Amino acid sequence: MTAFESSVREHPFSMRNVHFDVSNCDVRHWHPAGLHVSHFFNALSVRFPEGEKFFINSVRHYREQIKNPALLSDIEAFIGQEAMHGREHRGFNNALQRAGYDADDMELELKSQIRRLQAPPLFQLSVTCAAEHFTAIMSAAVLSNDAILDGADPEMAAMWRWHALEETEHKAVAFDVFNAVRNGGVSGYLLRCAVMLLTSLSFWFNAVRNLFRMLAKDKALTDWKGWGTLLRFLFGKPGLARKMFLPYVTYFKPGFHPWNDSGNPGDLARWKEAADLRLLNQQGKAA
Ligand SMILES: [Fe+2]
Ligand SMILES: [Fe+2]
Repeated sequence: MTAFESSVREHPFSMRNVHFDVSNCDVRHWHPAGLHVSHFFNALSVRFPEGEKFFINSVRHYREQIKNPALLSDIEAFIGQEAMHGREHRGFNNALQRAGYDADDMELELKSQIRRLQAPPLFQLSVTCAAEHFTAIMSAAVLSNDAILDGADPEMAAMWRWHALEETEHKAVAFDVFNAVRNGGVSGYLLRCAVMLLTSLSFWFNAVRNLFRMLAKDKALTDWKGWGTLLRFLFGKPGLARKMFLPYVTYFKPGFHPWNDSGNPGDLARWKEAADLRLLNQQGKAA
């Protein structure tokens, strides 16, 4: 059985239409580590709604070419999950906008970057594969280390953990589509590696730029203690970025597959139960 076949058969998942009430949270200090760490996550959040749309479109483009029924149903669930992520993060981004940050402009900036990209569909799908690897390894770090979100605003922590759970569940979908439609092994490998390098640069450049914008608004760019806290958070303890480094480089293995090489969160069942329970409660209230 190939990695592609095992992926679509062994990891079934579905969309959860779940909602998080983050509209009134303290956008500056929702994370107990303070302003710089809160804004680190906020700077990622403002890229999500347009980013998720891009991922959906790049995968949807190839749907007609996919014959495997299991992968086709994974594509449907992938599209549904990403749409929900965009919706929920936009809810939080609206709170950022109301608090005086230019979240709308930062979202629109990504929209115009995507419009300008105008790359061939296979290149766009490669960008999605790279971004999905990024989100998968960040999710594995978040779900394997409670300390990363412990003590945070409960709704914010639940939202990020739900997003991390679903990024893990669907982490192989874009990659399986890429494997199913690409022509030739070596050219496909070189394409995905080159695109990963470009996507990594773009991801961090834009995340750091948005972080600077938010901190500038708070006049906290020269708050060295805050920067120290963020650097410790990323590279010391709990070490969100440090934990991503080794899984990141596995993407460059010629036989890489997300379910074999990107590191799987140890206690996925716990977060799945939490997300499903929340969904059940919300459905109960809505009925
Ligand atoms: Fe997502
Ligand atoms: Fe995703």
